[in-house]
Amino acid sequence: DPKPVVNEPGDLPVTAAHRGYSAVNPENSLAAYSAAMKAGAEYVEIDVHTTADGVPVVLHDQTVDRTTDGTGDVALLSSSYVGSIDAGSWFSPAFAGERVPTFAQVLDLMGTGSSDLLLEIKGPETREEVRRTVDMILEAGLEDRVVLQSFDEKALEYAYERAPQIPLGLLRGTLDADPVATAERLHATYYNPSGSALATRPSVARDLNAAGVGVFVWTVDSAADWTRFTDLGVEGMITNRPGAFIGWKAAQ
Ligand code: G3P
Ligand code: CA
Repeated sequence: DPKPVVNEPGDLPVTAAHRGYSAVNPENSLAAYSAAMKAGAEYVEIDVHTTADGVPVVLHDQTVDRTTDGTGDVALLSSSYVGSIDAGSWFSPAFAGERVPTFAQVLDLMGTGSSDLLLEIKGPETREEVRRTVDMILEAGLEDRVVLQSFDEKALEYAYERAPQIPLGLLRGTLDADPVATAERLHATYYNPSGSALATRPSVARDLNAAGVGVFVWTVDSAADWTRFTDLGVEGMITNRPGAFIGWKAAQ
C-alpha cells in the first residue's frame, strides 16, 4: 500500500482547500478549484457523486437544492440537467453562470496546475460507479496526484480492488477504538478525522504516524486550531481558508 510522508510534531502540514477555495467562491465550483490552485494549496478537496446516467460530478450534498437553482437528488438526475443548472448565484451574483463541474473537467483543470486532488467519494456508490471514477483517474495518468477518501468503507474497498496504487483516506467524524487497526484493515494510507474527534484523543495522531499512517484533519479554519493540530504532527490541514493558512504557515 502507498506510504505517506509522515510529519514530526511542529512540521507544517500541507494545505488542502476544502471544496476548493470555498470561503470566497461557491464550493466545489471550477472557480473555487482554480482559486485554490492559484493560492498555492498542495491539495484541493472536492466531493463526487454520480448522476443517474453514470457521470461523476462535483457536488457536496446528495441533492442539488442548496448549491444550485435546480432541485432533486443527484443520483436520480440526468447529467444534462445537472450540467444546465446554475451553481454560482446562490453564493453571490458575481458567480452567476458557474456550473456543477463534471469530474472530467476537474481532471482537465488539474492537468494545468500543480495542486493535487483530495477526492472524496460521497457515496453510497456502487462498485461500478467507484470504478468509473477510478478509471478516469488512471486514464488521465493522474494516479500519483490523487488521494481518494471516503466515509464509506465500501467505496474504499472498491477503489482498492481497482487501483491499489492510489492512496486511500478513511474519513471519520468520531474516532475508532483502534484507529491504526482500522486504517490497516482498509488499506488506508491516511486516517482523516474531524478536528473535534481528534481533540477527544490527540495521542491518536502520534499512534497513526508511528504506524506509518498519515492524518489530514478537517475542517480547520482558526489559527488556534492550526497551531494545535500542527503541534500534533498532522500531515494535512483541510481548510476553507487556504490563503489564510498558507499565510499563517509563512509566519511560523
Ligand atoms: O475532507 C473532509 C470533509 O470534507 C468531510 O466533510 O461534509 O465537508 O464533506 P464534508
Ligand atoms: Ca468533503
